[in-house]
Amino acid sequence: MNKNDYDKVISRAIEIQKEWRILPAPKRGELIRIFGNHLRQDIEVIGKAIMHDAKKIHAEAIGEVQEAIDMCDFAVGLSRQLYGLTIQSERPEHKLQEVYNPLGVVGVITAFNFPCAVWAWNHCLAMVCGNSVVWKGSPKASQVTQSCKEAWDKAVSECFYPDLKFKDLLQVVEGDKDQAEWMADDSRINLLSATGSTAMGKALAPRVSARMGKGLYELGGNNGMIVSKYANIDLAVRGIVFGAVGTAGQRCTTLRRLIVHNSVYDVLLEKLKSAYASLPVGDNFKEETLVGPLINQESADRMLSVLEQAKAKGYTVHGGEVVEGCTIRPAIVEANEQCDLIKTETFAPILYVLKYSDLEEAINIHNAVPQGLSSCIFTDNVQEAETFTSAVGSDCGIVNINIGPSGAEIGGAFGGEKDTGGGRESGSDAWKQYMRRSTVTINYGKSLPLAQGIKFGD
Ligand code: UN1
Repeated sequence: MNKNDYDKVISRAIEIQKEWRILPAPKRGELIRIFGNHLRQDIEVIGKAIMHDAKKIHAEAIGEVQEAIDMCDFAVGLSRQLYGLTIQSERPEHKLQEVYNPLGVVGVITAFNFPCAVWAWNHCLAMVCGNSVVWKGSPKASQVTQSCKEAWDKAVSECFYPDLKFKDLLQVVEGDKDQAEWMADDSRINLLSATGSTAMGKALAPRVSARMGKGLYELGGNNGMIVSKYANIDLAVRGIVFGAVGTAGQRCTTLRRLIVHNSVYDVLLEKLKSAYASLPVGDNFKEETLVGPLINQESADRMLSVLEQAKAKGYTVHGGEVVEGCTIRPAIVEANEQCDLIKTETFAPILYVLKYSDLEEAINIHNAVPQGLSSCIFTDNVQEAETFTSAVGSDCGIVNINIGPSGAEIGGAFGGEKDTGGGRESGSDAWKQYMRRSTVTINYGKSLPLAQGIKFGD
């Protein structure tokens, strides 16, 4: 998309938002309710597009659309809330109140790996909060972007026919890096929500800050799991396999580091190696496949090169063979220290395994990476579990007990700390980022007392 067309998109987004913001929020929720129904109807169509573009297996592609549907249900309920506090005033006959109003235009940049759900986290909240959305999906997932836009347009037709103007509440910006930078620099965009690599976030965030803009970032993860001597090992193995090889290791929440207690290391590794050996790896359109191809050759080459580097360091690598093209068997790498290679997120199914002897050491290893998205511990010991969620525990935005790091529900706030960017999307009170909070002070008396007891000429 050229700059001229981009400018037209933004002008239209500003114009249409002015009409949308005056509708009562529950009325806005009505459109999202209908949109959710269209997603239900189109679940296979959008699912197929996800299989085509992101190369996910059927179950995961459908799961992703389900996540968008869940988001609609959540946002519909929220449309009857969007509440602020009423606060006691220090002055007589005064009241303090928080009022939430729409921000305006929300820019959404999404990655190839969750081309529908991550957009829906943003879109559904932005809509019920009274904003318009300008969406730059991944150029690798253009079929998904298009099928989501079609579902949206159908929902608008059903809700408002014959008036179709609200289709433009969602507009698509086609493009890549240049268009992302236009959005980051554009003060007409009131919130920029960007999902992708830490490198992408670090390139865009200073541009947004330079114009004092609002940014919401969900960037790289390097998610760890501690497996304690008190863990249910079979449960842990199931959690590890889905966490590390699901979506061919291309979730921001993928399990990348396993920190295992000395005493259970050998037994866990044996079970894991046999689980990995029997994984059906291949064509993501085949029903029996659990691990499909990586997104492209560049990604596959990077995985192979990282495995070579691991071998050169003397680490033991299990798996990692090329099946064909970009399809590679997931790999387990036994490492003896958390080197820079391990501290770097490689967006592929590589699982590094490290040993520990006490919980404090495990937590130190766990937190000693630049990223801070998702984390977990497998233990049936309540002291260990609670310690992991406490101030001295995991430093991540998502902290799980006896659950792998990926596959979060939409009801909680999603996002992470440090290089992950600090943003929170989807559930809980993430909606507040899509609104402008006004603190309103109301004087219902007949005098004008000043705060802090100040006497000014009286
Ligand atoms: C992402 O990979 O960017 O928790 C999002 C999960 C999914 C979302 C992943 N619900 O794994």
